[in-house]
Amino acid sequence: MIEDGFMISKSADHVGREVTIRGWISHIRSSGALYFIEVRDGTGYMQTVVVRDEVSDEIFDTCSKLKIESSLAVTGTIRADSRAPGGFEMIVKDIEPLHIPEQEYPISTKAHGVDFLMENRHLWVRSGRQLAILRVRSELIKVLRDYFHTNGYVLIDTPILTGAVGESSGSFFETEYFDFGKATLAQTGQLYLEAAASAFNKVFCFGPTFRAEKSKTRRHLAEFWMVEAEVAFYDSDQNMSLQEDVISYVIQNIVNSCGRELENIGRDVGPLKKIKPPFPRISYTEAVEILVKKGLPVEWGDDIGGDEETVLSESFEKPVFIYNYPKGVKAFYMKPNPEDDRTVLCNDLLAPEGYGEIIGGSQRNDDHDSLLARIKEEKLNVELYRWYLDIRRYGSVTHSGFGLGIERLLAFICKLPHVREAIPFPRLINRLYP
Ligand code: 4AD
Ligand code: MG
Repeated sequence: MIEDGFMISKSADHVGREVTIRGWISHIRSSGALYFIEVRDGTGYMQTVVVRDEVSDEIFDTCSKLKIESSLAVTGTIRADSRAPGGFEMIVKDIEPLHIPEQEYPISTKAHGVDFLMENRHLWVRSGRQLAILRVRSELIKVLRDYFHTNGYVLIDTPILTGAVGESSGSFFETEYFDFGKATLAQTGQLYLEAAASAFNKVFCFGPTFRAEKSKTRRHLAEFWMVEAEVAFYDSDQNMSLQEDVISYVIQNIVNSCGRELENIGRDVGPLKKIKPPFPRISYTEAVEILVKKGLPVEWGDDIGGDEETVLSESFEKPVFIYNYPKGVKAFYMKPNPEDDRTVLCNDLLAPEGYGEIIGGSQRNDDHDSLLARIKEEKLNVELYRWYLDIRRYGSVTHSGFGLGIERLLAFICKLPHVREAIPFPRLINRLYP
């Protein structure tokens, strides 16, 4: 193992000892004979105290030149102090500046507009709230992977450059691809995951997916990360039970392991603690009835859009499943409902507190001929789906799966106003920089 030396998160083990912190200055103030320099090293913050009488004049003079986000190595003794921000402070013996900015740091404690912050996202990621959000993201992904690995799923890495459109033909990015003309950037790994489910039974993938939707909402990114699962022999009901289990598991784990970050962000964990199975399940038809009663102009057959989702998800304390949508508003690969051929066997899962859709899932059409008919109906190039149809030609079985958008789930967990803060460097319709 690599020994990294002292890190602020390990302060409790180093009380009374002399250590060196390498990091950046997040805050600095002086009061005559003292400097208080708050240093961030990536694992935490440490208040360091420079006392004029206890350091050389040279070191004390150096302090007057330090600025916010100067990098430095600071050496001193760790002291437990319940009044200090992290419970510890350092009495400084030596300071070695590594790099002192020539200009003032552009992001100060004063309020900045979102456009300015997004333009400076490469610097904004250093601020406390963003650090906390991105640490929760890291933990969330780890917990999700843990869930699938410990429950017998095999990880299948699906391609990003694809020949066939996976989700909706109106919203994909294209790129040149050798002699084949255009390749499409994957909107989903699902179709490949279906092939793998007939090899391994329980599979999952996790990767970036791309949507060229011209949406400017708080829920849409052009590049987002999706975890998808696919299980042979699961029907739509079992698929919903799986989603409920995954969401409950990851949220309870995050509440336990990221308490400090969530507190930092100001997230009330009360509503998160309630997220345990079972989740309410209502049919699309029932959802339309609820919306009509609440005065929304929705008719049976319409898609349930962002505004409708907000209203529905504010009506429940737990995530709510909306199942069996009309086939006209859903993707070609979903299995027709044998009890009502106007609908397909599918579900969306809406997060509470107005967050709306975090998961889309379905039982897949496992019948070759009706799937082929749907592909033709959608005017997709049948030749590109030959391999996908093969899955229905050789040992076709009932199978189901779902896709969970990481940024949507993280935005809900951290109660963020917009998904753009839920990913380190968001790709939006109006942003490719930084
Ligand atoms: O509902 P979607 O489009 O479903 C699929 O892609 C299926 N092929 C998944 C599957 O069954 N394997 O997308 C799934 C989830 C959404 O519920 C949402 O959380 C997220 O992906 N998502 C987006 N997140 C951010 N920005 C966007 N533009 C998103 N589009 C979908
Ligand atoms: Mg969807």
